[in-house]
Amino acid sequence: MSDSKTYAPSAETVARAHVDAAKYDEMYAASIKDPEAFWGEHGKRIDWIKPYTQVKDVSYDFGNVNINWYADGTLNVSANCIDRHLETRGDQTAIIWEPDNPEDDAQHITYKQLHAETCKMANVLKSLGVGKGDRVVLYLPMIPEAAYAMLACTRIGAIHSIVFAGFSPDALAARVSGCDAKVVITADGAPRGGRVTNLKDNVNQALINVMHDTHCLVVKRTGQQIAWRDDLDHWLHEAAEGVDADCPAVEMAAEDPLFILYTSGSTGQPKGVVHTTGGYIVYAALTHEITFDYHDGDVYWCTADVGWVTGHSYIVYGPLANGGITLMFEGVPTYPDASRFWQICEKHKVAQFYTAPTALRALMGQGNSFVEKADLSSLKLLGTVGEPINPEAWNWYYNVVGGGRCPIVDTWWQTETGGHLMTPLPGAHATKPGSAMKPFFGIKPLVLDPTSAEVIEGNGVEGVLVIADSWPGQMRTVWEDHERFEKTYFSDYKGYYFTGDGCRRDEDGDYWITGRVDDVINVSGHRMGTAEVESALVAHATVAEAAVVGYPHDIKGQGIYCYVTLMNGQEPSEELRKELRTWVRQEIGPIASPDLIQWAPGLPKTRSGKIMRRILRKIAEDDFGALGDTSTLADPSVVEDLIENRMNKS
Ligand code: WTA
Repeated sequence: MSDSKTYAPSAETVARAHVDAAKYDEMYAASIKDPEAFWGEHGKRIDWIKPYTQVKDVSYDFGNVNINWYADGTLNVSANCIDRHLETRGDQTAIIWEPDNPEDDAQHITYKQLHAETCKMANVLKSLGVGKGDRVVLYLPMIPEAAYAMLACTRIGAIHSIVFAGFSPDALAARVSGCDAKVVITADGAPRGGRVTNLKDNVNQALINVMHDTHCLVVKRTGQQIAWRDDLDHWLHEAAEGVDADCPAVEMAAEDPLFILYTSGSTGQPKGVVHTTGGYIVYAALTHEITFDYHDGDVYWCTADVGWVTGHSYIVYGPLANGGITLMFEGVPTYPDASRFWQICEKHKVAQFYTAPTALRALMGQGNSFVEKADLSSLKLLGTVGEPINPEAWNWYYNVVGGGRCPIVDTWWQTETGGHLMTPLPGAHATKPGSAMKPFFGIKPLVLDPTSAEVIEGNGVEGVLVIADSWPGQMRTVWEDHERFEKTYFSDYKGYYFTGDGCRRDEDGDYWITGRVDDVINVSGHRMGTAEVESALVAHATVAEAAVVGYPHDIKGQGIYCYVTLMNGQEPSEELRKELRTWVRQEIGPIASPDLIQWAPGLPKTRSGKIMRRILRKIAEDDFGALGDTSTLADPSVVEDLIENRMNKS
């Protein structure tokens, strides 16, 4: 590792924190020793209609995997996110909405308003025949109506399935059919970075391929011309005029499904991850409060999209269950320019800021002046999620954005886990750039030998990461395919939840995620995290971003193929190629020496900013016929350029 310096939390951070080092140790030990007692106690942070008497009932036995938390309790999630706050903070802001265009007004939505809007939308859904257990697909921009729609579903017991608004009509159709949705909620258009996506047109196109009649509820966002189906389309604002602004919250069993969220696996079509009601909301709320050290009145901002799990747990459910103030941003970090994130932090006095490393790397490449012109003194904590963060981006985030004052929580988790599984806690742990550090309460990570499946004890070890026991926020099944659920997560390493990630426990016992196991490459018998090579490359002053994959190599088994995006103003040259090779050899060792370096003006990314390694691997393997679906790419033309300029293997 190029940098394992530790950063202790400041006295101020520790003094403010809900959990300090001693408390973490005590709570963690208690959570592992007696999960029933621990989660029995912490379940009480949620208001139950009928309190639970059972806490945990879990089997990880392959063939009989069954996960239940708080099973005999009943509750309603929207009541927990809204109604229970009305008396004490009805006039407090629940959601701050920042539109794409900074010239347009931001909105401050109070808990009372959130209640009225959610109830109206719930009543509209009911008028369309939606009831308990029915599925509703959301295909929406980052507008407050997305939160109203989620909460409206939970209010009447409907199961939402959000499809990221960047997905194509085909992907949308597959998801609408996959869960047999009765209604799709969308908007006429979605402004993002000054451009408009025609969402309703996409829905129209998608629904042609859906066999059953599907109502469409449309939010008027842009007022653009759209094609209309008279019998099945409904404007939300018109439908809402005729309904009551109150709607009773339905009593749900703890294990009733709350939502389905499709996510990609290493094989086959995306699977519908199912989260249920009671355990999920307990876990989302607790992790939101503890990881981000959230306190009453803090303005908290997670830059994710509600189309991803991060948006579910940490824009909507966690913050609102805690009575917090959550900021929703419609736009992108670089519009109108690369200072937008920081301008928003200044404007709304953001205390906790949570984003993805990829965004940080992109912004870092633009230079410090965009950060320095904003007043970021309101920031107390920074967070990252979604991929390993390289030490350079971490240091830039820490020093340039956080001014060296703010702890960084590097949160490792997955769509499947519902909430954070590993992260430093701001007042309890020193941080190390790139390390997810410590397990959250109740999480028992184990490092296994991937071949023998034996548990590797001790520190300074590396292997595949499994979790020994369940936690309340865990997914319960794959929608209508429990067999696939068991096979994906419980068959390779019997008795454990298999994360699909590789992991290192360092000499201090701290955890480092080394990337998906399928991204691990084996070069001349040496196992290597592609993330490590990337991190080394990005540490070079000329490199803005890098992606590394393996490719078949006659002698070494696998060779190292690097796609490198240079900083603005840097010129590619043979000399620089050589320099980067030497650099990586120096940073990691000769075994990590790049075999091929391709200059990449851009990397293929999903619209959520994730690099699509599958595509890079195929290009590196000269296997262009099998590139698969590139429709989810932010910019599909990037792929053509990479194919055209691919490196010759000879
Ligand atoms: C990766 C996102 C390193 C990991 C919440 C995981 C991370 C996958 C981190 C899940 C992190 C997520 N450090 N890697 N802090 N967070 N990952 O389902 O490989 O979109 O398995 O959930 O992202 O991605 P997903």
